[in-house]
Amino acid sequence: MQQCVAKKAGFDGVELHGAHSYLICQFLGSITNRREDVWGGDLAGRSKFLRDMITSVRQATGPDFILAVRISPIIEKAGIFLHESLELAEILCAMDIDMLHISCWDVFQGVENDEDGPSLTQRFRDVIPAHMPLVSTGAIWSSIDAEWLMDEGADLIGVARVAIAHPDWPMHLGDPDYSPERPPFSEQHLLDADLSPVFVEYMKRWKDFVVGGN
Ligand SMILES: Cc1cc2nc3c(=O)[nH]c(=O)nc-3n(C[C@H](O)[C@H](O)[C@H](O)COP(=O)(O)O)c2cc1C
Repeated sequence: MQQCVAKKAGFDGVELHGAHSYLICQFLGSITNRREDVWGGDLAGRSKFLRDMITSVRQATGPDFILAVRISPIIEKAGIFLHESLELAEILCAMDIDMLHISCWDVFQGVENDEDGPSLTQRFRDVIPAHMPLVSTGAIWSSIDAEWLMDEGADLIGVARVAIAHPDWPMHLGDPDYSPERPPFSEQHLLDADLSPVFVEYMKRWKDFVVGGN
């Protein structure tokens, strides 16, 4: 059996990144995956790459290691559509994974042609087993946002931008009124948050995040 280097190095788990148009996602997409062999075609074929990875990772790690999988619910230009992502979520949750992570970019967004229907998070919660931890990520900023997402069925909340500007963000969530300053941030604010000058420069590429950036 192959040894898992991450486990040997002391990590408690890994996340397979099947979202955001990276390689696994390219296999999953009906537009990006043009294969005509067992690795393409219907959802079973397009998800084989990810499913085989899950099996291999679990074989290498054994049961006492967290295995999470991140997927994108919708990327139309790649051929990732919600109905298939929900089906994929069910397939993955029937495998030996510990957590499903949906990367929504904006958890508050409505679903096309069903804007008043359930949130993305609730739709996934409804199809996966109740015991499967669900992580949801995208545009969370305040305690009220976090509370809302938990009410929609998320067990864990992923954050990027808010934690970059406010690295102590999780410590404040006990305060129901916590709603930290929003972008754009001055360069000084970000340097005070311990971002390196190089990272501050990089963050200027993110729209409206840094005063004077994009
Ligand atoms: C500076 C920065 C770098 C990111 N880099 C990656 C990346 O390399 N791969 C990725 O899949 N997502 C990346 N993301 C996207 C985040 O994982 C997250 O899905 C997205 O920012 C939405 O969450 P947020 O609203 O809390 O920022 C990045 C986000 C930020 C702000």
